[in-house]
Amino acid sequence: MAASLGRLYGNRLLKLKPSSIPKQICLYSTAQPWTKGRKAMLTSLGVLTGGAGVLLYALENSVKAGDLELHPPKYPWDVTSGLFSTFDHASVRRGYEVYKNVCAACHSLQFVAYRELVGQTHTEEEAKAEAEEAMIEDGPDAEGKYFKRPGKLSDYIPKPYPNEEAARAANNGAYPPDLTYITMARHGGQDYIFSILTGYCDAPAGVTVQEGQHYNPYFPGGAIGMAQALYNEIIEYSDGTPATQSQLAKDVTNFLHWTGNPDHDTRMLYLLKSMIIMSVLVGWSFYWKRFKWSNLKTRKIFFKPPPPPPKV
Ligand code: HEC
Repeated sequence: MAASLGRLYGNRLLKLKPSSIPKQICLYSTAQPWTKGRKAMLTSLGVLTGGAGVLLYALENSVKAGDLELHPPKYPWDVTSGLFSTFDHASVRRGYEVYKNVCAACHSLQFVAYRELVGQTHTEEEAKAEAEEAMIEDGPDAEGKYFKRPGKLSDYIPKPYPNEEAARAANNGAYPPDLTYITMARHGGQDYIFSILTGYCDAPAGVTVQEGQHYNPYFPGGAIGMAQALYNEIIEYSDGTPATQSQLAKDVTNFLHWTGNPDHDTRMLYLLKSMIIMSVLVGWSFYWKRFKWSNLKTRKIFFKPPPPPPKV
């Protein structure tokens, strides 16, 4: 960096005090000064890159006042409430029930394997039972045929549709996206997912939605291809929690955030452990450095002139 600046501006920027040292450096330096054309080209490249960066930042953060879109409010999610916060695992478990009984009819969760539920939402036996309930396509067998078999812990949650075309055909042309990483794939994350699920209402006067579409002010554009999926008491929770619409939406959102960040709690645990260990090590290394440097720092160097030559 300093070398490039030096070549671009000669020594005008880098020279702090008028002295002969920079001149001497120039005299002995093998670096060639840049030609005028090269200087101009690199300067304009730098200005253009900086300008493009500022423009992108401004576009990203501009107020999108023209949008027909309501921005979701901020909700207090357990997992983002503090530095060492963790998932509410009871809620994640209920969220799995919501996904399995409601969303799984249309949305895949193709990056989640049943083994990942073990120790997070289910015990090993429960997760095995969940996997066995699902029929997984396997094969080819000895006769070259594909067959269905009960799932194992190592299997991934099966998709509702074999491919995108089938999914679109069944949903009026709209494609229900895979939900594994959905909270990270949308602006507003969990707040947005919760708002989408609870935000259905009648279209305001003057707004018409087409056949097969539904009005949801949180969805960009307002017309979403997914009908309202969650209603009060649409399923019954196995732990007896009252299944209101907002409870269902909160739990499934928590679950979908967990599917995208299954290692979150382990990471937080490692952070806590490493901070405890590091803080001990910092104190210790401070002491060790002082100890090792003490004889260098307290050293005094004297100039002892040689004895004068003996007089003859
Ligand atoms: C009847 C099928 C169906 C069911 C059931 C369903 N969805 Fe959808 N979902 C869709 C379709 C179709 C889309 C695509 C909508 C569009 O692009 O207009 C979609 C889109 C979405 C989106 C993405 C919105 C966006 O910003 O692109 C999310 C999130 C979502 N669904 C969550 C859920 C959750 C959570 C459940 C379960 C509570 C659920 N869906 C149940 C059909 C369904």
